[in-house]
Formats: sequence, structure tokens, C-alpha cells
Amino acid sequence: MTEYKKGDALSPIGMFDSGVGGISVLREAVRLLPNERFIFYGDTRNAPYGTKPRETVLALSRQVVGKLLERDVKAIVIACNTATSAAAADLRAEYTDLPIIAMEPALKPASLLHSDGVVLSLATPGTIAGEKYAHLYALYGEGVVSLPCPGLMEFVERGELGGPALNAYFDQLFSPFRDKKVEGVVLGCTHYSFLKRTIAAFFPGVPLLDGNEGTVRQLRRRLEAKGLLAPADAEGGVELLSSGEGEAVGRMKALLEAVL
Ligand code: DGL
Repeated sequence: MTEYKKGDALSPIGMFDSGVGGISVLREAVRLLPNERFIFYGDTRNAPYGTKPRETVLALSRQVVGKLLERDVKAIVIACNTATSAAAADLRAEYTDLPIIAMEPALKPASLLHSDGVVLSLATPGTIAGEKYAHLYALYGEGVVSLPCPGLMEFVERGELGGPALNAYFDQLFSPFRDKKVEGVVLGCTHYSFLKRTIAAFFPGVPLLDGNEGTVRQLRRRLEAKGLLAPADAEGGVELLSSGEGEAVGRMKALLEAVL
């Protein structure tokens, strides 16, 4: 466990993902909390997390949290469903005083959309195999078909948010549902939020649900409850860090600023 200094309202917020996916959460955070300073860490060198064993993702998440705590962050946002599933409970037990906000696939809101068709839930193999998902599924899984998507986050890492190869991936993934009534699609991986436009073309008019806004609202509530929200006159900002090669930060910046 890393020793850390308890933050105050002016301290930054640490946020991480295995790569660029968490930038979809950061975009929402910057929009809803413009006075906060964010330090985003993309663990690009160790991506993907979603096809690695739970223990490996836990160890990697611990390592990243340690790096963020060296920067005196006042809270941690796990902007990754896979790391949430593998590490959130352990990290919360280890850092009892630190607000740790995490993601979960939006099965609960999706359950409100279900009537006589199906809801598709897309996430990494690690997320879908995890206990947390099983628990959510037991509560809200009626009519939900879970689709593990190995190889999908890599498209987003490459900056490929559309095009023939991605369409071919989805053609194959969605082919069993061509004649079904699809009532909703859960984007249970923060990378997939960047693929909304491409996925929407397969299911016109069908709601696509990610947990990004809900997670940021939860962050705000947790900070408020602890008196840690930055004051309205504080200057917000973003710092992007990566364990990967130099260009990784450029790709994060591009996605942060992209008009989608
Ligand atoms: N962005 C991550 C998530 O939300 C995972 C992608 C990966 O590393 O496999 O699950």
C-alpha cells in the first residue's frame, strides 16, 4: 500500500484506465466539473486489461493508484469497467479514507428498456466473467444477452472509430440478432463509448447506454459529502499521463478534444 497525503478541495482528482477508453469518462467529468483538476493515467503499456487474469489487473491497478497517490490526489476514479471488477473492492479495503469511484455496466437502467425483446450487453471478457457482473446480472439481467468483445478496445486504441474492419467485427458480433427486437445496447467498457456512432448504425433508434455520466455524478456526490469539491473560482484542468510510448498521450489528447 502506498503512503499518501490526504487531499483537500484544491487537490487534483486521479483517474485511470488501461488506455484511452477512460477519456470518455474524463470528457464527461470536465463537462460536469469544470473547476476540478484531473490527472488521467492511461496504462497503455499494459493494455488490454480485459483479456488478462483478475490478479494481473488487480496488481496493475494497484501500481497505477500508487502513482496517482504520489501526486496527492483527493479521489480516484477507476474509469475502466474491467479494473473496477478486478480491483475496486480490494482498493477500497486498502485505502479506507480515500474516495474511490468506479464504473459498472449500465444493466440497471437497461432493465427499464426491456419488454419482449433483447438487450445486448457489450463488455470485455474479464468484466463479463467477473463476480461483480454476475451479481448485477442476477438482479437486472432479464432479457440481457452478454457479449464479450475481445479485440474491440484495440480499434479505439488505434484511433479506428469506424471503417470496414470495425464494421466487419460488429457484423459478426451482431449477426445472431439481425431478426431480433433489440431494445437497448449496454456499452460496458469505457472504450466502447467512442464507438457509439458506428454501433448506432446497426441499431437505428435504439438507446446505447454507458455509465459515464452516472459515474461523474457519483464523483460529485462523494466529493461534496467530504467537503472536497473545488470552489467555483478554482481553475480546472487536465494532465494526461501514460505508461506507453510517447504518442499515446497525443492519442488521448485527440480523443479528449474530438468532436464526436
Ligand atoms: N476500458 C476498459 C473497460 O472499461 C477495458 C479495456 C481493456 O483494457 O480491455 O473495461
